[in-house]
Amino acid sequence: MGRYVLLRHREIPDLHRLEVYVRHGGYEAWRKALTAMSPEQVIEEVKASGLRGRGGAGFPTGMKWSFVPKDVFPKYVVVNADESEPGTFKDREIMEGNPHQLIEGALLAAYAIQAERVYVYVRGEYRSVARRLEAAIAEAYAAGFIGRNVLGTGYSVEMFVHLGAGAYICGEETALLESLEGKIGHPRVRPPFPATYGLYGKPTVVNNVETLANVPPIVLHGAAWYRTMGTEKSPGPKIFCLSGRVRRPGNYEAELGKITFRDLIFGEEYGQGLLEDGRTVKAILPAGASAPMLPASALDTPLDYESVQAAGSMLGSASIIVLDDTVDIVWAAYKMIRFFQHESCGKCTPCREGTYWLRRVYERIVAGRGRPGDAELLESIARQMAGKTLCPLGDFATSPVLSSLKHFRKEYEAYLRRTIEAPVGAPA
Ligand code: NAI
Repeated sequence: MGRYVLLRHREIPDLHRLEVYVRHGGYEAWRKALTAMSPEQVIEEVKASGLRGRGGAGFPTGMKWSFVPKDVFPKYVVVNADESEPGTFKDREIMEGNPHQLIEGALLAAYAIQAERVYVYVRGEYRSVARRLEAAIAEAYAAGFIGRNVLGTGYSVEMFVHLGAGAYICGEETALLESLEGKIGHPRVRPPFPATYGLYGKPTVVNNVETLANVPPIVLHGAAWYRTMGTEKSPGPKIFCLSGRVRRPGNYEAELGKITFRDLIFGEEYGQGLLEDGRTVKAILPAGASAPMLPASALDTPLDYESVQAAGSMLGSASIIVLDDTVDIVWAAYKMIRFFQHESCGKCTPCREGTYWLRRVYERIVAGRGRPGDAELLESIARQMAGKTLCPLGDFATSPVLSSLKHFRKEYEAYLRRTIEAPVGAPA
């Protein structure tokens, strides 16, 4: 086994081609499951591996599969390839470089829950990625890995790619299902969760691309092997998307919990430090715009779900954006709020109105027209949104506001002091 479990195309040229993938052990797990394992055994192996969802929530994958009722048909597997979190670009690399590992993982999930159909929902902006995936799926059909009576075992499964239209909200699993059904991508109330009430109201497993790419090696090498990587509670490898004010942004695969933010940002084999000499880290966004930002004091936090949570944030999709001391935090928070306001689907009032008013208040602060009490006003709006929306987008939108106010309040005060000292219209 090479250095990579997920980004194997970095070591194996042309891995996106079926013939190359098969030459390097591809579809062996699929063959093994179909010929030597029952669906329950596949679920048990994935459960035992401790694999947790890589879309962001870290929910145990095997447990999710086991929630699917056995006696209701048809059932579906939906691959969430709508990655839209700012700074997240890991699923894209898997689909471009190692698409068959995702396809094989999705097939294994389908077999495990006895689904007859797999839909891959790809974000609208990833048109070329979707084409690459479609080509790989066509190859897998031609080789008999997908379709009717796969490998003569009597099991039949179909796989389709569906291109979204570029809405962040459609990465939320129930909005994604609505969109896939041809409706407006508005979130549904959960519960019921998709495992029991999913696509067309039928039991559906929705898994992220990276999650499913972990499944073939688990089935092939076993849960015990998988658990040799990562930590007890966060086993396995993870792709960390590094961006922002670093020298070498990109995707880096490492075991969960074995490296820290500092290793990732400054390590020779990772980010190689900040963009400019003499700068310092001001803040870290561990999960794009969605999770609370952390101050530089969190640099030595290990990168696993529990540790980042203990530090006051979330690992989420592990899209780590680094802000150095050149970055104006109020401006950065404003940019994130603009994003959430634009992407709010408008279905529920606290999110629709809250993101709008947050944006309005930020706009006047960064334009130098802030008013005394604006910091408290932002806080108050955010608190009235948190926990009061149908889907997590409303909660996410409060993260940049509340965390920047918590750690960098002085920057807001400086903005507001400037406006008080120099009233609107006063000469500069
Ligand atoms: P969640 O914790 O509510 O659910 C996670 C998964 O577990 C879902 O598939 C859900 O159906 C399943 N689940 C949870 N409880 C269940 C139960 N009792 N029965 C059956 N299934 C159950 O998290 P959610 O809202 O789905 O996702 C939030 C995460 O999404 C955040 O952590 C965020 O980081 C991430 N995110 C990722 C983005 C990306 O581009 N990758 C974009 C935006 C957010």
